Amino acid sequence: MMSEHLKRQAAAMALATLKPGLRLGLGTGSTARHFVDLLGKQVADGFDCICVPTSEATAEQARSLNIPLSDLDTLDRLDVTIDGADEIDPQLNLIKGAGGALLREKIVAAASDVMIVIADSSKLVETLGRFPLPIEVNRFGLGATRHAIAAVMVRHGAESGLRLRETAPGLPYVTDGGHLIIDAFFGRISQPEALSRDLLDIAGVVQHGLFLKMCKMAYVATPDGVRTLAA
Ligand code: A5P
Repeated sequence: MMSEHLKRQAAAMALATLKPGLRLGLGTGSTARHFVDLLGKQVADGFDCICVPTSEATAEQARSLNIPLSDLDTLDRLDVTIDGADEIDPQLNLIKGAGGALLREKIVAAASDVMIVIADSSKLVETLGRFPLPIEVNRFGLGATRHAIAAVMVRHGAESGLRLRETAPGLPYVTDGGHLIIDAFFGRISQPEALSRDLLDIAGVVQHGLFLKMCKMAYVATPDGVRTLAA
């Protein structure tokens, strides 16, 4: 598929910039999966790195490729995280979390000196919000948390709904951390900083998928080649 080919090109470009000996954060999703696959081949050829995965799925893939893994208890900082995104605005603010890994992705990105996003050009937007914004919430007090989120949605002009499992509709989707996800539908997020604060002020909200001022560089693959974007 064309977009898989583009995702792989962006992943290959990111990999080509990495020096041996780095502490790497490994993202989650189909684009990050290409990166991990290519990294696995490089590790098999002797490339030295130590990696922290952002999900159980990525950890499983990395283990299957014999990529050396660690965690953020052993390593307190990482050099670079390579991850995908659902949306990328011109300042490289992101929406992430379609794959449900936003909490670990944000913890790993925040622990990294540099966050590099890899994507195909379908992820570029002028304003964030076309894609649903995931909000990760604690299971405890779900009704009260949803009530508080609904009030924030009214202020920011959005609607929200509990994410359900694709394989078992009717049952809630559960993250690697055992939390639930509320997806919020904006169309356009005009005040991302204020929205971020409003959501994090809700006691039951664990994290949300707005990654503001975290990404410094993106490799975005187009049919005409890979573009390098810098914040
Ligand atoms: C995982 O939770 C997400 O943040 C992904 O990184 C994001 O959804 C991009 O995924 P794709 O590379 O599959 O589009």
